[in-house]
Amino acid sequence: MRNKIVAGNWKMNCDLPMTQDLISKIKRELPGTLDCELMIAPSHPFLYAAFNGSLDTPIEVVAQNVSQHEKGAYTGEVSIDMLQSVGVKSVIIGHSERRDEFHETDHDLAAKTKAAIDKGMRVIFCCGEHLEQRQGGSHFTTVTAQIEKGLFHLSNKELKQVVLAYEPVWAIGTGETASPQQAQEMHAHLRSFIADKYGDKVAQQLSILYGGSVKPDNAVEIFAQPDVDGGLVGGASLDASSFIAIAKSF
Ligand code: 13P
Repeated sequence: MRNKIVAGNWKMNCDLPMTQDLISKIKRELPGTLDCELMIAPSHPFLYAAFNGSLDTPIEVVAQNVSQHEKGAYTGEVSIDMLQSVGVKSVIIGHSERRDEFHETDHDLAAKTKAAIDKGMRVIFCCGEHLEQRQGGSHFTTVTAQIEKGLFHLSNKELKQVVLAYEPVWAIGTGETASPQQAQEMHAHLRSFIADKYGDKVAQQLSILYGGSVKPDNAVEIFAQPDVDGGLVGGASLDASSFIAIAKSF
C-alpha cells in the first residue's frame, strides 16, 4: 500500500496572521480520521509558528524550498539544518516556479535533493512539462529527463525518501486540469520509468502526487486513478474547507 498524501503548497500568499488563521480553520475542519497524510507548506518565516500551531494534529508542516548548501555565505538562503531546527521534516524541491522564475537547474535540484536526503528529510520532487512540450508530443521525454537528472543519482534506499509530484505547468493556477486519463497515463509512465532503474518493488512503493488546479470537484476522479496517490494543491489549499474536502476525496 502506498502512502496517500494531500499537500497544500501555499506559495507566497500568507503572512503570519493568515498562516495562523488558515491553520486554525484547517484544524476546525479536520475530520476524526483521514485516509491520507495531510501536509501544508507555508512560507519560510512562518514555518515555526505553523509547526507549533499543528502540534497534536495529523498536519505535517513542510518547506517550499531549501538550499543545497550546508551553511555560510549564501545571503537569503535557508539551510536544511535551519528547517529541521523548526521541526520541518519534508521539503518541496523542483517546483516549476523555482525552475522557471528562479532558474533552478536540474543540477541544482539534484544537489538539493541529495543534501536533503542525506540529512534524513523527505523530498517532494516536482516535475512537469510546459504546454508547448505537451502539444509537441515531448511531454513524456521532458518529464522523464527531469526525473533522470534530478533523482537518478540516488540509491534505492535513498529513493524511498522521495515522493514525486507530477505538475503539468499548463495546469498550474490556470483552472485547466489534466484529465484523469492524462494524469494516470503520465503517472504510470513515471512509475515504469522508476521501475526500470530501481526495480518494481521500489516503484510500487513510490507515492506520485498530481498537481495542477486540483479542486474539490475534480479530486475524486483524479485520485481514483490507480497510479495517482494524492495531490499537491495550490490555490484550493488556501481555503480550509476546499483543502479538507480534497483530502476527503479518496
Ligand atoms: P494550483 O492548484 O493553484 O494549480 O497550483 C498547483 C501547484 O503548483 C502546487 O504546487
